[in-house]
Amino acid sequence: MKIGIINSGGDAQGTNAVIASAVKHGLRLGHEFVGFIKGWEGLLDMDYVNLDRDAVRGISHVGGTILYTTNKGRFAGKAGLGEKHQIPDDILNLAKQNLATLGVDVLLVIGGDGTLSGAAQLANLGVKVVGVPKTIDNDLAATDATYAFHTAVDIVVEALDRIHTTAYSHNRAIFVETMGRHAGWIALNAGLAGGAHIILLPELAFSYSRLVWAMKQRQTLGEKYSIIVVAEGAYAQNEGLTIDRAGDKSEVKLGGVSDQIMHRIEQMSPDTFEMRNVILGHVQRGGAPNAYDRVLSKSFGVAAVDAIHNKQFGTVVCLQNNLIVPVALNDVVEKLKLVTTDNLLYQTAQKIGIYFGT
Ligand code: F6P
Repeated sequence: MKIGIINSGGDAQGTNAVIASAVKHGLRLGHEFVGFIKGWEGLLDMDYVNLDRDAVRGISHVGGTILYTTNKGRFAGKAGLGEKHQIPDDILNLAKQNLATLGVDVLLVIGGDGTLSGAAQLANLGVKVVGVPKTIDNDLAATDATYAFHTAVDIVVEALDRIHTTAYSHNRAIFVETMGRHAGWIALNAGLAGGAHIILLPELAFSYSRLVWAMKQRQTLGEKYSIIVVAEGAYAQNEGLTIDRAGDKSEVKLGGVSDQIMHRIEQMSPDTFEMRNVILGHVQRGGAPNAYDRVLSKSFGVAAVDAIHNKQFGTVVCLQNNLIVPVALNDVVEKLKLVTTDNLLYQTAQKIGIYFGT
């Protein structure tokens, strides 16, 4: 079969390893590959490269993606949490027609819920699709893990280790903002691993008065500094998101909420804390994947080609209980995995005195 690879949405460390392992395995099975440039845009514009053995040599440990990517464009399949965006018929039909023109039999689509929502709409038109889950937020319920998540957590933990020594030395309260749009897994895992004192999550709206109380409480207990990890999607009770809603059809651009929280606390309780703010931003998506994510992404690439070879179309390969299994595309895009208060990590954090501002 001729397999077209598309990766779309935010980049994630391990995408190159998915591509390389899919191509290496698929070539051995007698398939051939093309890769579309910048995700769906490349399919719509017929911008693609042939992916042979040479094209994927030496890329598996390299971050980013050799195919480039975008989380905007004509194929945006999601507008926000739970909101689907119907891709116009002419765009879907153009994609289908271009696949036929190129003789592409099946699409291997690497993406998160937005990209996979688009893939599901194309699959409804009869296009053969197999997906690989990709998001550093690790927020797809159908898979125990997505690649890049553990690498992002490692990066945040390293940053927190460094923040500790400077926060301690100056007796400061330092806010550290992580990625995590709808789900706070990066903030929760890294906060727990990196010794955060307060963690603010998108799933648990915080109260400013409880947050200030927690920071003062630490002072009362004789603690000289505080590290507050803030997921970028965190928001205050009764206020909704405090970031600018500058979004268009695609998801709203986040980043900067921790700065707003810090300034609000200064207004509420002037000269009580010496505060600083660090937004880790895209550092979390940069550089090489860690060992776990290399192994996971290679496994996903191979499993996706196996699913194609076995004609298990309309599925996404997901990690479940240490096995990689094909799950129906619609089931994967329907359900996000969010932090709940009965989660083991949340409870562990609470039991060792980490505050959540609630
Ligand atoms: O969805 C993954 C993610 O990293 C989110 O955590 C974040 O909100 C978003 O992508 C950022 O995307 P962009 O690259 O457009 O800034």
